[in-house]
Amino acid sequence: MDITAIITGRRSVRAFRPDPVNQEHLLQILEAARWAPSPHGRQPWRFVVATQPMLKARLADAMGEEWQRQLALDGQEEAIINLRLEKSHQRIRGAPAVIVPCLYLEDLDQYPDPDRQGAETTMAIQSLGCAVQNMLLRAYSLGLDTGWMCAPLFCPDTVRAALDLVEALIPHALITVGYAAKDPVRRPRRPLEELIVRWD
Ligand SMILES: Cc1cc2nc3c(=O)[nH]c(=O)nc-3n(C[C@H](O)[C@H](O)[C@H](O)COP(=O)(O)O)c2cc1C
Repeated sequence: MDITAIITGRRSVRAFRPDPVNQEHLLQILEAARWAPSPHGRQPWRFVVATQPMLKARLADAMGEEWQRQLALDGQEEAIINLRLEKSHQRIRGAPAVIVPCLYLEDLDQYPDPDRQGAETTMAIQSLGCAVQNMLLRAYSLGLDTGWMCAPLFCPDTVRAALDLVEALIPHALITVGYAAKDPVRRPRRPLEELIVRWD
């Protein structure tokens, strides 16, 4: 597959067939992350891979409880909360593999002022995004599909506890990996002329 076909073909998949993803493919996906650009080459990312049903269920349950609390705070109806929770549970439990990319800031430069430190952290987050995109593209090139869930960003402590992670790891997303149950409807893209706000 050529690079353009991979970039444009990659799509967000939210329901997977039960077929497992082989370990070699998962390793190739993680290997792609390793080659992403990073500030000062510090590679501020670490990954958790969950394929065992028990671990995926523990993660889904823990995040579900926290989400339920947050949705109740928003004043959402109980029936709607339960429906959304069940869908989210199913997305995680039904994915053959789940990768949790974590931000790791310990190797970054330290500055005495908050502005520069903030820029350093932003660079690391941008870089984590590059690593995740590499994974999504590599997965697609291997005939797999992926889905990006931002939920861990809203409950990093819960995810850390469910996965027994040290404090320095900041869970930033949950990437489901598997074979699409059906082709998803793609979101349209803005035309290029709308995106280029100035050229010279
Ligand atoms: C940072 C980020 C967070 C996202 N979070 C979610 C999410 O929580 N749930 C979800 O279903 N999709 C999520 N997505 C996927 C987007 O909805 C998806 O990329 C977008 O709709 C375009 O569709 P496509 O990926 O099929 O091209 C996220 C994507 C990004 C980059």
